Amino acid sequence: MIQSDLDLFGPQPHRLANHTVLLPGFALPDLEAILDALRPVLRAAPFRHMCTPGGLHMAVALTNCGELGWVSDAKGYRYSPTDPVSGQPWPALPDVLTAFASRSAAVAGFDGFAPDACLVNHYQPGTRLTLHQDRDERDFDQPIVSVSLGLPAVFLFGGLQRADRTQRIPLSHGDVLVWGGEDRLRFHGVLPIKPGVHPRMGERRVNLTFRKAGCG
Ligand code: SIN
Ligand code: FE2
Repeated sequence: MIQSDLDLFGPQPHRLANHTVLLPGFALPDLEAILDALRPVLRAAPFRHMCTPGGLHMAVALTNCGELGWVSDAKGYRYSPTDPVSGQPWPALPDVLTAFASRSAAVAGFDGFAPDACLVNHYQPGTRLTLHQDRDERDFDQPIVSVSLGLPAVFLFGGLQRADRTQRIPLSHGDVLVWGGEDRLRFHGVLPIKPGVHPRMGERRVNLTFRKAGCG
């Protein structure tokens, strides 16, 4: 626990489950550095709507940076070292993002988190993300660090079975949610984003999820 980071930035973490911690506003002090790091990534690998294995376009637009990026197409969901649009490797994970994700994980109780993938999701008003588990990664011992930017969202946080009750967790601009350990495979999703314009981010929610997707 790097307590001094939290003391500086006001709101204290909320433990939502044994291995799930919400860090309200934790990204705010680093916001401009995060956005500066993201800009060249989005230029090299713009947001796109991928196809589901069932042939539908995903409502959420996405891109990636890091050694591995999450992709979906007719063949299924998986991590790929290359961007299927450009055929090039995904843009590198900027150091400032890696360091931020690692610090967030440490504050939430997960030391030594070294992400190799950052999925960047783009939600317009009305866009939702249906309940799912994150299970395309090799090592479920590593946590997930999720950074919410822009319009607020309601995160649905369920159990290990799809039918389990879900908690509704409001996520605001700058909030960081970390889940791992016994919570790593909980079902989760995002309710439709309410219409609005965020003063810094405009008419969108952007979510960064950092993961250790590969092995080693
Ligand atoms: C995800 O489940 O990968 C993203 C969650 C979010 O957008 O908050
Ligand atoms: Fe997910």
